[in-house]
Amino acid sequence: MAKSKKKAFITGVTGQDGSYLADLLIKKNYEVHGLLRRSSLVKTDRIDHLFNDKKIFNKSFYLHYGDMTDDLSLYNLINKIKPNEIYNLAAQSHVKVSFELPMYTANADALGTLRILEAVKSLRLKCKIYQASTSEIFGNSSNKKLNENSQFKPVSPYGIAKLYSFEIIKAYRNAYNIFACNGILFNHESPRRGETFVTKKITKGIVDYYINKKHFKLGNLDAFRDWGHAKEYVEAMWRMLQLKNPIDLVISTGKSYSVKDFLKETMKTLKIDYYEITKNNISSFYDKKNNKLICQTDKKFERPNEVNYLLGDSKLARKKINWNPKINFQKLVKEMVEFDLINAQKKK
Ligand code: NAP
Ligand code: GDD
Repeated sequence: MAKSKKKAFITGVTGQDGSYLADLLIKKNYEVHGLLRRSSLVKTDRIDHLFNDKKIFNKSFYLHYGDMTDDLSLYNLINKIKPNEIYNLAAQSHVKVSFELPMYTANADALGTLRILEAVKSLRLKCKIYQASTSEIFGNSSNKKLNENSQFKPVSPYGIAKLYSFEIIKAYRNAYNIFACNGILFNHESPRRGETFVTKKITKGIVDYYINKKHFKLGNLDAFRDWGHAKEYVEAMWRMLQLKNPIDLVISTGKSYSVKDFLKETMKTLKIDYYEITKNNISSFYDKKNNKLICQTDKKFERPNEVNYLLGDSKLARKKINWNPKINFQKLVKEMVEFDLINAQKKK
């Protein structure tokens, strides 16, 4: 008898990570169910290749309306699908926006996780749960490498909501013997990254300067982040759910660069020679060739509270799930720039 396909339920399937994870699981012969929230405009760009493939859509890839803030929709879907694995990736994921939408962020990012756990518990499902945790839960706890034992000191409504999720996952795992684990992922980017996150803002902004000679604005250039590639990070999520016992793991590259480093690497990739001037706390980057402004800082893009430095230590992930990222900072920037350049040239 043919073995039935494993079923996965992905919340946040239209996002950067959800779309890469759906690609990966379909390749691994899963039946993939994605949560889609209603919107007045269609926002399925990142999964259109699956949606438009007649051999895949409604055969091994299904979409269902629902929302992380709606208990019943989550309960009913989990009951209907009866997944073997749930990847809870849906979230209001923008740190700065979380200061403007703190209640909504708590509802979707903290209570949303509880809604999933409660559904699995009350349906008595034998199902594994992956929770998209984040390096934001460390906040400004240390300037050293952060691992599973480091202190949590989140400084944003987003980080605090995600810390609730981290803890409630652990509590349900211990209290009800549910296979639930937290992937504490450091920043990860890709050509599919949302346009309001800094890496995409930079690669798109520099490409726009390169083609149309338009300048753009950024906030704090001095924060450091440990940036990896989303495609490699979703592989780690899947590997975590293939373990016999649930465990929380830090997923990171072990290298940290500043936002300014990212900006400089992007200009270098496009061979733009620049010079920098700082006056009245505003940094401006000019093109050496024609003295045109490329990019300037603006306080408007700063946050009420900043996480200054993030650097992860993934030794445990290497040991437990044999996960080792291969795409370095320079390769990541290059891939994002090339993608944005092709898109911009198509629009010209
Ligand atoms: P993303 O691109 O912003 O995607 C977020 C996804 O969540 C989208 O599909 C979005 O739907 C969905 N969503 C938001 N609110 C929802 C709601 N109320 N109900 C249902 N769906 C909702 O984020 P990402 O970069 O892929 O990140 C995936 C997860 O990992 C998030 O939980 C994020 O917080 C976490 N994380 C990300 C990083 C990173 O560096 N990327 C690092 C650590 C942790 P729409 O498309 O309709 O907006
Ligand atoms: N978004 C944004 N826009 N950030 C800027 C800008 C700007 O114009 N200018 C400077 N920055 C700085 C931010 O202040 C921050 O220090 C850094 O760039 C990175 O900002 P984001 O790209 O917005 O990412 P993040 O680190 O706040 O959050 C991301 O990573 C987390 C993991 O650490 C998100 O993906 C979160 O969902 C994720 O949990």
